[in-house]
Amino acid sequence: MVYLFEDKDDPMRYLAGTAHKHTIGYYEGHPTWRVPVNEAFIPYHIGVFASTGGGKSYLTRLQLIPMFLNAGFDVLVLDWKGRDYAPYFKKQNVISISEIALDPETVVSYLCKKMGNFGYLSQQAKGTVTQALEEFVYSESWRGLSVNEFRKVFYTSMIQALNPRNLTSGKSFEDQQRFERGYRRLRDSDIQNILGTLTANDILQLVRERKIIVIDMKKTGRDEKLSVFLTLARYLMDLMQNDEDLNLALVIDEGPQYCPFNPDSIQKETTDMIIDLCALGRSHKLCVCILSQGMAGEIGINAAVRRNLNTQFVGKIHPLDINEAGNWLSPFNIDPKFLLSLPPGHFYFMGNMNLSPIPLLITFEVK
Ligand SMILES: Nc1ncnc2c1ncn2[C@@H]1O[C@H](COP(=O)(O)OP(=O)(O)OP(=O)(O)O)[C@@H](O)[C@H]1O
Ligand SMILES: [Mg+2]
Repeated sequence: MVYLFEDKDDPMRYLAGTAHKHTIGYYEGHPTWRVPVNEAFIPYHIGVFASTGGGKSYLTRLQLIPMFLNAGFDVLVLDWKGRDYAPYFKKQNVISISEIALDPETVVSYLCKKMGNFGYLSQQAKGTVTQALEEFVYSESWRGLSVNEFRKVFYTSMIQALNPRNLTSGKSFEDQQRFERGYRRLRDSDIQNILGTLTANDILQLVRERKIIVIDMKKTGRDEKLSVFLTLARYLMDLMQNDEDLNLALVIDEGPQYCPFNPDSIQKETTDMIIDLCALGRSHKLCVCILSQGMAGEIGINAAVRRNLNTQFVGKIHPLDINEAGNWLSPFNIDPKFLLSLPPGHFYFMGNMNLSPIPLLITFEVK
């Protein structure tokens, strides 16, 4: 039998029954047909895929985040560019990455980079000056200082450490020159970035109090952003390993920065961490929600991570992703070529949060 639905009929309520009250967007062409979701699968993780300008960040901000909050999940957003979320939330819901305390290892590599690596050819080629810097940073004597106090303590400690009478190796004059040259490059804003005091525990407490916290990451480089992510993620892992339920959605925009197709160095660490978060998250109510311009291959996210995202929103895709999109949509007789020209803010909703047996084309209004 075939039913014909008119606008006022809302077939979506048949999908939802009485059990499911949370929705996401509406069925394309029918603004009154809100699309129900199966909230039980929120901790089975979510992938949002569309090429640039496809509306991923808008979908997340205007539809996914309100849905998480309604379903009783607090939300922690990592705003890579500081442009997609931070400007849209109240001040009390936004913290700058520079307010977060970095671990010493990160501080050393950050300061080295900002001081031109003291003229050494690579960070691996560590000289006396780098060693003195490490000593200083690991002493933790600089925590909690103002920028000017930091400058004073830093400069004095370094010059003293490089003083020829204290040196057991190295060439004192050259070392001091290297340091002075590096020091002149160090700006107040660079120093500000390492003087943060908020710990992962502090941040989670803020998330609990305020329900949503956006971390504005615009001011720092890639490695510092990823280090902050690792600091937070390690803390969440600890809680879950102690069998705590998190009731938390972690929104990771610009997914390929954290878990690229073929990760190495720090991205290898963040990719492995995301896989672990996904695995433990399923049973501890953590939802990992990853946004990416590409799905598979070089433009996509790591395949092992992708396999953990059990609900997908797929908007306008890049032609390179036509095969991957075909894998998902062809079984339902949806031609993946159709995805090349989807307008912004239109997504196929599929996977285990979708109550319908077939993918649904959804959209939403921009307020
Ligand atoms: N539902 C919608 N209806 C109409 N326009 C929309 C909708 N959603 C998004 N847009 C438009 O598309 C633009 C791009 O959206 P958005 O910034 O979310 O893209 P994105 O996929 O996150 O891109 P990028 O990968 O570059 O971050 C927005 O500025 C907005 O004007
Ligand atoms: Mg975006």
